[in-house]
Amino acid sequence: MRNKNIAVLTSGGDAPGMNAAIRAVVRTGIFNGLKVLGVRKGYEGLIKGEIFEMSLSSVADIIHRGGTILQTARSYEFTTPEGKEKALNMMEVFGIQGLVIIGGDGSFRGARDLADMGAQMVGVPGTIDNDIPYCDYTIGFDTAVNTVVEAIGRIRDTTSSHNRANIIEVMGRNSGDISLYAGLAGGAESIIIPEVNANVEDVCKRIMHGRNRGKLHSIIILAEGVGGAFEMAKAIEEKISVETRVTILGHVQRGGSPSAFDRILASRLGAKAVELLMEGETSKMTAQYRSEIRAFDFDEVLSAKKEFSSEIYSLARILSI
Ligand code: F6P
Repeated sequence: MRNKNIAVLTSGGDAPGMNAAIRAVVRTGIFNGLKVLGVRKGYEGLIKGEIFEMSLSSVADIIHRGGTILQTARSYEFTTPEGKEKALNMMEVFGIQGLVIIGGDGSFRGARDLADMGAQMVGVPGTIDNDIPYCDYTIGFDTAVNTVVEAIGRIRDTTSSHNRANIIEVMGRNSGDISLYAGLAGGAESIIIPEVNANVEDVCKRIMHGRNRGKLHSIIILAEGVGGAFEMAKAIEEKISVETRVTILGHVQRGGSPSAFDRILASRLGAKAVELLMEGETSKMTAQYRSEIRAFDFDEVLSAKKEFSSEIYSLARILSI
């Protein structure tokens, strides 16, 4: 449908590749004759009317930039019924007939509520956590994994020099995916994630096994959803007398230039979101699932459980023996 006004916002934690997705929404929209508006600071900005028209050049020179030019927020007001009413009113005031939300599952819950109230809403999965069902990968995950792998390399150098163990705490909220993929790619000796029960005895056994065959370092990747890094370091030192340090990578994992993979994924999903709006679809998320670009109902996505790759977990354990 031409002559339609659409808008785009980013919501929740930022992720590398969000800018590439914004660019794809704006340029696909304008290419198809739509007017495209940008909303600053997520739902918070929608409620407050921080809305402006975007042009082809307002998204120039951003495909390679981390963060989000639209900024983002976690809005308390939007979680209330009054906040949602205000958001809906503001969409009417600005003539927004379709809205693209780039964010995670919390943002999609809000989008589904607005869709239930009559707004046309489409989601693009942008979060480093890779915790959204029906997504092979979310936008930002690949870049975050690469950042963690680089950090593992640096930490391994110093860990080897000192013949220590190092516990690296990795983001992901309740998901172990960043830990799992970075742990496999970085050759970590142990990967501790919320999806699999672990114990410190097993970690110690693996450290000693490595040392007995001459390994100079032990890298333990610990997902933040499990927590307890300092307690674990203490337990390792008490049990096997191996000096153990803790590194919390924190927000370094959320920044940086997006990988080529994330730029391509974001471009494809952003363009697909606009197509869905033009086809009149609503309450849907675009995703790459089993290598194809597809659309899924928010209801389906929000009631499903993200599949966990036990194959990758087992492989990482075998290869780092
Ligand atoms: O959802 C992305 C994420 O980076 C999580 O991995 C992490 O738990 C959380 O956001 C941190 O949130 P904040 O930036 O608000 O501290």
